[in-house]
Amino acid sequence: MKLLALLLLLGVVYPSLNEVVKSFKAKCPEFFVKNQHSHEVDPPTLLKGNQFKCICQRWKGKYRYATLYDIKRRIPIYSAYKFEGKKDIPRNGNWKTEPQLDEGLKPENREMREMRPAQEEKLPFKNQARNNDYPRAGAYTRGHLFPNSYAADADQAESTFTLTNAAPQMQDSNEEWAKKVEELMWEEIKHNCMVNKTFPAYIVTGVVPGNVWVAIERERRTITQGVNIPTHYWSAYLCINSASSRLSRAFLAQQIYEIKPNRKTQFKKSNMTVADLESKLTGLFKQPFRVF
Ligand SMILES: *[C@@H]1O[C@H](CO)[C@@H](O)[C@H](O)[C@H]1NC(C)=O
Ligand SMILES: *[C@@H]1O[C@H](CO)[C@@H](O)[C@H](O)[C@H]1NC(C)=O
Repeated sequence: MKLLALLLLLGVVYPSLNEVVKSFKAKCPEFFVKNQHSHEVDPPTLLKGNQFKCICQRWKGKYRYATLYDIKRRIPIYSAYKFEGKKDIPRNGNWKTEPQLDEGLKPENREMREMRPAQEEKLPFKNQARNNDYPRAGAYTRGHLFPNSYAADADQAESTFTLTNAAPQMQDSNEEWAKKVEELMWEEIKHNCMVNKTFPAYIVTGVVPGNVWVAIERERRTITQGVNIPTHYWSAYLCINSASSRLSRAFLAQQIYEIKPNRKTQFKKSNMTVADLESKLTGLFKQPFRVF
């Protein structure tokens, strides 16, 4: 009993079950680029504060990617993943949630759970979005950060369908992002990089939170600041070419709100260096922000 109490105090009772983790480095370092000088794993900037949770996204017994999640805004800030080439696996998967964000650590929460309405009733969903928040979002769709189309296999593709990997995105902005960022990024990687299981490209895709929110219902009360609507989506890749040099590029797209019917969202996309993106993000987050 004493030993158990001590172990609990030290937080070592379920060391291998902790998927909402203190640091990405300890639990799922494989999704991050190593610093060229120190050779240490170097995740993107971890925003400070209790509202930001590191999730090693686990599904069917394996880590699939990593996400920095904001439990106050109920959206991810970024997802980091390895890309082995576009496999175009057919769309498959129900939307899931991360029980540990709401229930804390329990052994049965080792993996993301399939979302089902019955289970949905049981979680308070205080710290994350749930499926029926999105129909209330009107014009906004669930914009994937790690896209289904970039998954290496069916299980990884399924694992992208979790609400901790999605944020509100206007339908046309979602389509433009797929066409003008994801497709073009793949073309570039395909032509310039080695890209397979041994030499993956590393990609980080994220958002910049805004001041507009989707209202949600919790316990029969309306929360006006429910799910945050990002002002920007961004993405950057880093890969190795056949001469073993690092290549990278970044993209930033602004999502301009036009809630009025029949008015298209403006989608301003730019293609830039990673350093340019980092400097833009530093301005937008009002703190130093590093991607690779
Ligand atoms: C990005 O810009 C560079 C340089 O202007 C250009 O060579 C490249 O094709 C562009 N890539 C995409 C995906 O737009
Ligand atoms: C990955 O690509 C490199 C370079 O094209 C090649 O040498 C290597 O054999 C490939 N590995 C696999 C597992 O396909």
